[in-house]
Amino acid sequence: MTHSDTVVILDFGSQFTQLIARRVREAGVYSEIHPCTTPVDKLRELAPRALILSGGPSSVIEPGAPSLDMGVFDLDLPILGICYGMQLLSHLLPGGRVASSTDREYGRSEFTVTGASPLFDGLPMDRALTVWMSHGDRVKSPPEGFSVIGSTPSVDVAAMADPARRIYALQFHPEVAHTEDGTLILHNFLFKIAGLTPGWSMSSFVASQDAALREQIGDKHVVCALSGGVDSTVVAVMLHRAIGKQLHCIFVDNGLMRLNEGEEVVAYLREHFDLNLIHVKAADLFLSLLAGVTDPEEKRKIIGRTFIEVFEREANKLPGVEFLAQGTLYPDVIESVSFRGPSAVIKSHHNVGGLPDIMKLSLVEPLRELFKDEVRKVAVELGLPDFIIWRHPFPGPGLAIRIIGEVTPERLDILRRADKIVQAELLAADWYRKVWQGFAVLLPLKTVGVMGDDRTYESVCAVRVVDSIDAMTADWSRVPTEILATISNRIINEVKGINRVVLDISSKPPSTIEWE
Ligand code: XMP
Repeated sequence: MTHSDTVVILDFGSQFTQLIARRVREAGVYSEIHPCTTPVDKLRELAPRALILSGGPSSVIEPGAPSLDMGVFDLDLPILGICYGMQLLSHLLPGGRVASSTDREYGRSEFTVTGASPLFDGLPMDRALTVWMSHGDRVKSPPEGFSVIGSTPSVDVAAMADPARRIYALQFHPEVAHTEDGTLILHNFLFKIAGLTPGWSMSSFVASQDAALREQIGDKHVVCALSGGVDSTVVAVMLHRAIGKQLHCIFVDNGLMRLNEGEEVVAYLREHFDLNLIHVKAADLFLSLLAGVTDPEEKRKIIGRTFIEVFEREANKLPGVEFLAQGTLYPDVIESVSFRGPSAVIKSHHNVGGLPDIMKLSLVEPLRELFKDEVRKVAVELGLPDFIIWRHPFPGPGLAIRIIGEVTPERLDILRRADKIVQAELLAADWYRKVWQGFAVLLPLKTVGVMGDDRTYESVCAVRVVDSIDAMTADWSRVPTEILATISNRIINEVKGINRVVLDISSKPPSTIEWE
């Protein structure tokens, strides 16, 4: 897809790089992340209207620290350097000087504007602003042509500008929510300095995709694996709009989904869209292969392999299929191309949703350019219902990796009923949309309890609710205790087989979101 105004963010490995891209897009300007090593010729091809240099964990002074092709400065583009990006500008451009420091400044600081600049239009001038800092090195003198336009108590050169060349730099992170008026500063860069026009919105995205998909696919047929989640449902509906009956959706029910989950999505799609939809009921097959298996990776392998076999068998029955539609998102794309600095994220086993190369199908990935929150906005544009749009992410291997130990029909039934209560209570308390994911985990552990006059000896269930923006890091959600109390009471009273509920209060890292 072509975009009128694109901002390229050159990534130096900051944990906030994706956040910069999202903030720019929220401002209505399309942005892409590229590695800092991107050659200038490639940048020319991308034809951005502005560049942002991200932060990063290195020190510009260290040998081998990530740098920039000096040709970037000949492109004559407006540039905003953030944190490491600012230090790099000082390091590379004549006259600049960066001092290394072993004491890192991390957290809030007070920033004072000391020089007039369009970057700070609209900011209060009579007081300091709270900004978010995360750096060791600092700029001692700005390069020739630059003037200092802001400082903090510990950093004299906290912002600098060369208006003639339209190069600006900030030591703090405007993209982080803790920075007061950070959005305004970014908007000033995009609109007042770079003169961009907002043109990126999910309605324009959806509108442009119909034609783009039709052009890519022509009169060929496409197969799509529907999982019940928002991504694959959006892919299916977008393709259905574009190519109608040339799309064939396959929903493989592996028997490991949450209560009624698959059925709800299938029923909704059948009712509202005249889709070719094959519902494969394969629970018995999956459960028979999982019998006796307790090792998490073994479970994943069996489920992944079996899914592919079932999917392929069905897909091969369809004549003339040449494309496979997938719900790949932009973070997956960045993961595979991005600069890997010392802070680069540790990606584990995900996206087993990835389907086999062996099918020799070409890929259609209509969400490749989108962040998760943008997919949800597309879902709104497409008129999908809340229960699909806001559904929490659910792992491909499903409840099998939330039953610690062997997966049996009985234990699945117990976990499903406990999980339904967690979902229902989060929804009832208006907490479902506040959190990234919430679910129950069934432990291979029995404890003693009393129920009326009887002693019980039954399973323990853990409740896990987490906040996250991308699942790479997560913290346990501070769900109010009354909601937790209701969840616990309901599970113990209503789910036979569970007599104790515990709360998981681990963050990721070092724990993970799922238990297996
Ligand atoms: P972890 O447990 O690694 O999970 O912190 C991060 C996110 O990924 C989901 N997840 C999976 N998704 N196949 C998937 O498709 C898997 O095997 C898998 N394991 C974890 C998890 O639910 C969370 O959103």
